[in-house]
Amino acid sequence: MKDEELIATAKEYREHAYVPYSNFKVGAAVLAKSGKIYGGCNIENASYPVTNCAERTAIFKAVSEGERELEAIAVIADTEEPCSPCGACRQVMAEFCIPRIIMANLKGDTKAVSMEELLPYAFSDKDL
Ligand code: THU
Repeated sequence: MKDEELIATAKEYREHAYVPYSNFKVGAAVLAKSGKIYGGCNIENASYPVTNCAERTAIFKAVSEGERELEAIAVIADTEEPCSPCGACRQVMAEFCIPRIIMANLKGDTKAVSMEELLPYAFSDKDL
C-alpha cells in the first residue's frame, strides 16, 4: 500500500465531512494489518466540543470492526502545510501504536512521521 493510495482515500472521505460550523473539511484513512482501509471525516456538532475529528472517526471505525493492529493513517485538509493532527487525535493514535502518520494537503504536499515524532512522551498503559 503506497502512501498515495491512503491519501486518496482520505481525500474521498473528506468530501463526507459534516462541517456546518467551521466549514473546514478534514478526511482521514487508516490502513489495518488485515489490509482493509477505513475512512473517516470530521463530524461537527452545535455543541462544539462534541465534534469528532476525521482521524478519530477513521480509527474508531476500524477498531469497532474488530481491528487492533493499525499500520498507518493519512490525514488531509485544505491547509497551507500538510494537515497536522490535533492533540486528542495524537493520543488516540498513540493508544493503538500507529507507526506511520501521513499528513497531506490538497496541493499535494505530504509529510510522514513516526508515532514517537508526532507525540513524544505519550501517556500510555505503561503509566497506569
Ligand atoms: N479537525 C480534524 O478533523 N482533525 C484534526 O486533527 C484537527 C481538527 C476538525 C475539527 C473541526 O471540525 C475542524 O477541523 C476545525 O477545527
